[in-house]
Amino acid sequence: MGILCCGDAFREIWRWLLVLIVCTEISVHGQVRYSVPEEMVKGSPVGNIAQDLGLDIKRLKSGRARIFTEDSREYIALNADKGTLVVKERIDREELCAQVTPCSLHFQVILDNPMELHRVDVEILDINDNAPSFSRKEMQFQMSESAIPGARYSLDSAHDPDVGVNTLQTYTLHPSDHFTLKTVSRQDGSKYVEMVLQTPLDREKQEQHNLILTALDGGSPQKSGTVKITVMVLDANDNAPVFSEAVYRVSLAENVTKGTTVLKVSASDKDQGTNSDITYTFAQSSGKALDVFSIDSNTGDIVVNAPLDFEKTKQYELNVEAVDSGGLADTSKVSVEVLDVNDNAPVINVISFSSSIPEDSTPETVIAMFNVKDVDSGKNGEVKCSIHRDLPFRVKSTSNNFYSLVTDQMFNREMMAEYNITITATDGGFPSFSTNKTMTLKISDVNDNAPVFQQPLYTAYIIENNSPGVSIFTVTASDKDTGNNARVSYFLEDLSVTGMSPADYVTIHAESGQITAVRSFDYEQIKELRVCVKAQDGGSPPLSSNVTLKIVIQDQNDNAPQILYPVQTSGSLVAEMVPRSADIGYLVSKVVAVDVDSGQNAWLSYKLQKATDRALFEVGAQNGEIRTIRQVTDKDTVKQKLTVIVEDNGQPSRSATVNVNVALADSFPDALSEFGDFTHDKEYNDNLTFYLVLALAVVSFLFIVSIIAILSVKCYRWRRERMFYKSNGNLPIIPYYPPLYADVGGTGTLQHVYNYEVCRTTDSRKSDLKYSRPSQSMMSLDSTGTLTLPHLQKNVTNTDATDHQVSSVVYYHT
Ligand SMILES: *[C@@H]1O[C@H](CO)[C@@H](O)[C@H](O)[C@H]1NC(C)=O
Ligand SMILES: *[C@@H]1O[C@H](CO)[C@@H](O)[C@H](O)[C@H]1NC(C)=O
Ligand SMILES: *[C@@H]1O[C@H](CO)[C@@H](O)[C@H](O)[C@H]1NC(C)=O
Ligand SMILES: *[C@@H]1O[C@H](CO)[C@@H](O)[C@H](O)[C@H]1NC(C)=O
Repeated sequence: MGILCCGDAFREIWRWLLVLIVCTEISVHGQVRYSVPEEMVKGSPVGNIAQDLGLDIKRLKSGRARIFTEDSREYIALNADKGTLVVKERIDREELCAQVTPCSLHFQVILDNPMELHRVDVEILDINDNAPSFSRKEMQFQMSESAIPGARYSLDSAHDPDVGVNTLQTYTLHPSDHFTLKTVSRQDGSKYVEMVLQTPLDREKQEQHNLILTALDGGSPQKSGTVKITVMVLDANDNAPVFSEAVYRVSLAENVTKGTTVLKVSASDKDQGTNSDITYTFAQSSGKALDVFSIDSNTGDIVVNAPLDFEKTKQYELNVEAVDSGGLADTSKVSVEVLDVNDNAPVINVISFSSSIPEDSTPETVIAMFNVKDVDSGKNGEVKCSIHRDLPFRVKSTSNNFYSLVTDQMFNREMMAEYNITITATDGGFPSFSTNKTMTLKISDVNDNAPVFQQPLYTAYIIENNSPGVSIFTVTASDKDTGNNARVSYFLEDLSVTGMSPADYVTIHAESGQITAVRSFDYEQIKELRVCVKAQDGGSPPLSSNVTLKIVIQDQNDNAPQILYPVQTSGSLVAEMVPRSADIGYLVSKVVAVDVDSGQNAWLSYKLQKATDRALFEVGAQNGEIRTIRQVTDKDTVKQKLTVIVEDNGQPSRSATVNVNVALADSFPDALSEFGDFTHDKEYNDNLTFYLVLALAVVSFLFIVSIIAILSVKCYRWRRERMFYKSNGNLPIIPYYPPLYADVGGTGTLQHVYNYEVCRTTDSRKSDLKYSRPSQSMMSLDSTGTLTLPHLQKNVTNTDATDHQVSSVVYYHT
């Protein structure tokens, strides 16, 4: 119908062209029709009515042409000057006619004088001045994601007041991946659109779809209206929970405390809301692990519920289930590995143990066997056994975890009688555990120590003339062994020191070691005695040692000095001759005395006790020399008698006196005249000696004869023994003088060199005491009353000296 131009100028031009075309249709029968587009500007010509009705302008004016409309509104006005109709008011077709077509304005052009009525129809032509529009700006839908394709959702219709092609023609939907549009005609012919689900929705992929629905009209230019469609996808429980891992692995030390969270399992569910509420549980198939672990059903935290013990269970397998509220589930495994912790100390089991071994056991003697266990594994279960380094033992590994404890050296019970052996078993864990086992081993005694005396030699002192049975000394030996091995007994060794058994002198108490005298000692007989004491223990075999006990016998002043010269014989008189011409200091004689005691007890001093003339003689106090102290005069009597006393220095002192006869004469006959008939005395003396010898010979002869006679009667054997015994037991006692004496440097003491020997019979026990004391038979009292010392039987070692002394003695009968 024309060219669509832009701009107002073109629009006006176009309208005018339209008017011109319309004008050609004017009815000459007083009725004209015009067409005019809506929305023309005011004053726009609608048609030349004067022309079209065939009226001239004058007529119009004279006739006061005017427009009459039935309703009050006048859209069209009459320009009487030009004879044209113009738009008086904006004409909106949609307002005027809505959907009615064609839309026309009807009015009359009235003329007066004469009155003429001309009907004018003005058809209002539609222009596309309205776009389709929706009543709502936005539409919202909520669709479950489970909605199946084909589901339909009605959409609002758009409205376009234009008519014809200018009105709503089509709809489009964008984007169109899930939905399509479908136009549906109602019964009454009206139409609406529906949105049809084409492909399934997935909330998990896209939760909201934003669509634009466009309504298009057919005008030119085309106009459109849009509405936003929001499709919310509602969740459906279409997803099962999924664990983050198929298998959870965790390692736990066995000493974890109760309540420790081991691990958190988690499952995810893509669904939303309650559809993703997951509950965690252990499957019943987890077995005994259910007692040990628990799971928080909400958080999935797995917690230790009971103590773990690697030694019992090394691994747990748990099946976990995650279930959402819709019942969809997933399962997973939890593998719990229990790690060993050094929580067990080693255990020592003693299999055998000998609690006592003898001290002479050789090294490598097995004392104990034991077995060590540690239930931990790996390093924690590796056990080492040791004992203290200083102990004389060794731990020997025999086989796997079996050990033996052996000795490492010899023992000495006397140093260490008992060992506390502590075996320490230590495992290799960190920190490590150790176990101690203490065993007490006793070392039993072996008799390896002899009794020991404190000193190699003991010296004991005893004063002579002791009473028999007196205790002299006690020896003691100690033995380091124990029990019977240390029970010491004492014995006297039967060593004859001086030809006599020590048992003759002393006895020893076997248990106490007390040594007692069995007899009275005589210093003059024995000065010193050595006995050998043996100490023997009770072991098997016994060990012994010996000691020498030196018994020193101490002197007592029990012997008076003994005058050796001048010899006093009963009935005979010895006189010294002093010539009258003798000078002062003439050695008259010398008193010789000895004392068998010793020391002070034998220290002799000489004094003149009595004298016929004290002024004539003196006695050397120390040497016993009798010397004249003045010239002998004729007045002095021939016969002088001196008494010299010899005293020893003992406490109390003992003494002896001797009478010395001195003849003051120049010749022997002179002396004899004073002292009597010497020859007669001598003859008498010789005769007496002869008779004595004869008598002795006769008695001896008779004795032997009688013995032989008895023996011949008695049993032959008996007689023999008897004879033997008697002959030994009745040895004649021969008086005897001390063998050797000498004046030593004028000190007056005599040096004795004696060798005493005890004479014994073969049967010493019977005759022990026989010679223990000086026998009465050995004492002799000479005519001067001098007590001479008792003589023991002595062997003369120097008989010559004695003979010599005796030979110079002159015997007189008193
Ligand atoms: C478990 O043992 C280890 C190693 O012995 C130690 O370090 C840790 O403190 C212990 N834990 C507990 C809870 O006792
Ligand atoms: C050994 O142990 C016991 C008891 O503990 C103790 O009486 C004894 O003196 C110990 N012995 C040694 C040699 O340590
Ligand atoms: C075992 O003995 C050793 C040394 O005597 C000591 O250090 C340790 O503490 C003891 N162990 C036990 C468990 O008594
Ligand atoms: C006494 O002991 C010594 C050394 O101890 C030994 O030589 C001697 O033979 C022993 N004497 C006796 C009689 O046993």
